[in-house]
Amino acid sequence: MIKFTITSTKGGVGKTTLTANLGALLADMGLRVLLIDADVQPSLSKYYPLSATKPVAGLTELMVRGEMTPACITPTIYRNLDLVVSDDPEGHLPHWLMNRIDRGFRLRVALQSPLVADAYDCVLIDTQGAVGSLQDAAVMAADLLISPITPEILSAREFRDGTMELLHRLEAARALGVPLGPMKAVITRQDRTSDARLIASGIREDFARLSDRVCVLETVVPHAKAYKEAATLRVPVHRHEPRRHGVTPSAYAVMHELAWELIPGLRGVHAGLNSFRERMA
Ligand SMILES: Nc1ncnc2c1ncn2[C@@H]1O[C@H](COP(=O)(O)OP(=O)(O)OP(=O)(O)O)[C@@H](O)[C@H]1O
Ligand SMILES: [Mg+2]
Repeated sequence: MIKFTITSTKGGVGKTTLTANLGALLADMGLRVLLIDADVQPSLSKYYPLSATKPVAGLTELMVRGEMTPACITPTIYRNLDLVVSDDPEGHLPHWLMNRIDRGFRLRVALQSPLVADAYDCVLIDTQGAVGSLQDAAVMAADLLISPITPEILSAREFRDGTMELLHRLEAARALGVPLGPMKAVITRQDRTSDARLIASGIREDFARLSDRVCVLETVVPHAKAYKEAATLRVPVHRHEPRRHGVTPSAYAVMHELAWELIPGLRGVHAGLNSFRERMA
């Protein structure tokens, strides 16, 4: 099982869009996927239709009990794709968590439960775009951090400073023996202006120089209306845009490249076709 946390110290960069679409693609490739909505604003919880009319429980039970229970998991209408909903609209959970001595480890430990470890191949955790105890717990639960970054100058600077601060702050966890996952930055919502391309290459150079803990992925998610449309229709974007004419690659192609770069063992596996499980059989 591999656990990804999608994080950024900046809001609105495309975390939820990426979590939902990557999760659904991996599920369509045949992996058993659990999405966890660890944002108190429950965007991921509403992204796809759920197969149950009302979830029984969600993130609150998971965090307060410190273990996974069947009630915390709600299936979506898509095969292989389940969800732990965010059910804390008033934001009590981050405050509750802040006062716990084990706040950093609680989600990490909860995900070691057989209900997760034996039932899923991949867990994706979406986080809020602000520093807080819930975000720290999600970061510390991950094997790998994925951080979308938009190629605008202010946002790139904020990303660099915010990320360095986050990594620095969580160094304390490493001192306690928790291995902090490496961070893969994904340039996302890149438009076709030369300015965006220039900033994107600046981001790559910056991180090559600044940190060996962060690398910038080759795959770039373009700014394209398919991502918004798919969210409105509540379908995975690789299904919504299987092919496309013109220079911008289709969402199907982009999302596959991204999944393959993140999990190299999946290269060659496509959604719906020669799925991962059939290959392993
Ligand atoms: N590649 C893309 N092309 C065009 N629009 C996009 C793309 N990715 C995301 N968006 C749009 O950008 C907006 C913000 O995306 P999203 O909600 O995923 O960001 P977020 O980082 O999760 O925000 P928050 O910090 O508020 O949780 C949404 O309207 C979404 O549809
Ligand atoms: Mg979000």
